[in-house]
Amino acid sequence: MRLTRAGDDLRSAAARILTEAFSHIPVWSTITEARAEVDECFSADRVAFGVTLDGDLAGWVGAIKHSEPLWELHPIAVRPDAHRRGVGRLLVETLEDEAERQGAVTIYLGTDDEFGGTNLFGTDVYPTPLEHLTQLRVVTAHPYQFFERLGFSIVGVIPDANGPGKHDILMAKRVGRRSK
Ligand SMILES: CC(C)(COP(=O)(O)OP(=O)(O)OC[C@H]1O[C@@H](n2cnc3c(N)ncnc32)[C@H](O)[C@@H]1OP(=O)(O)O)[C@@H](O)C(=O)NCCC(=O)NCCS
Repeated sequence: MRLTRAGDDLRSAAARILTEAFSHIPVWSTITEARAEVDECFSADRVAFGVTLDGDLAGWVGAIKHSEPLWELHPIAVRPDAHRRGVGRLLVETLEDEAERQGAVTIYLGTDDEFGGTNLFGTDVYPTPLEHLTQLRVVTAHPYQFFERLGFSIVGVIPDANGPGKHDILMAKRVGRRSK
């Protein structure tokens, strides 16, 4: 379901999903903050898709078109009670199809670790951030492995993007190359 220019009910549902899916980090803590993000993501110059389960919005994905070849996936959120049912995969694959249709070559994203999900959390990765990346692993839980399952590669890290020891892991995928 294409969400650009979606109506008020869908926007409210999307905002609720953002606050629920990201409740582990202080990013969209209130419905007001989440709704502002949703309104931006659903505007005409962005791309956004949703998936329903039993008639209710179960998750949604947005993208920013930085240029014709380069799209940024931002954000993706699936209702916690709908996790691991293929909703996230369907969202990303739908976005990939649309990106390919519009001539994009690469989709990239930043997946932050500001909550201790990986072993990079709390470490000083200078002066060898790329070496640290080769040792990356999950400590509690982190979505980078979800993106790996979908064929994204780890392409970099922005050290301390969210404060000391809270890095942003960069991932990218060539459009049109499905994982199995
Ligand atoms: C990350 C997220 C979008 C995944 O959505 P989902 O609907 O549960 O994912 P799917 O069921 O489509 O899973 C697709 C594949 O990834 C795997 N997967 C899903 N979440 C995973 C995780 N956290 N770690 C490792 N693998 C994961 C699934 O097992 C599945 O593998 P398979 O296709 O080989 O069976 C969802 O957990 C979410 O909304 N999390 C909170 C918000 C968030 O972290 N967004 C990303 C920030 S960058």
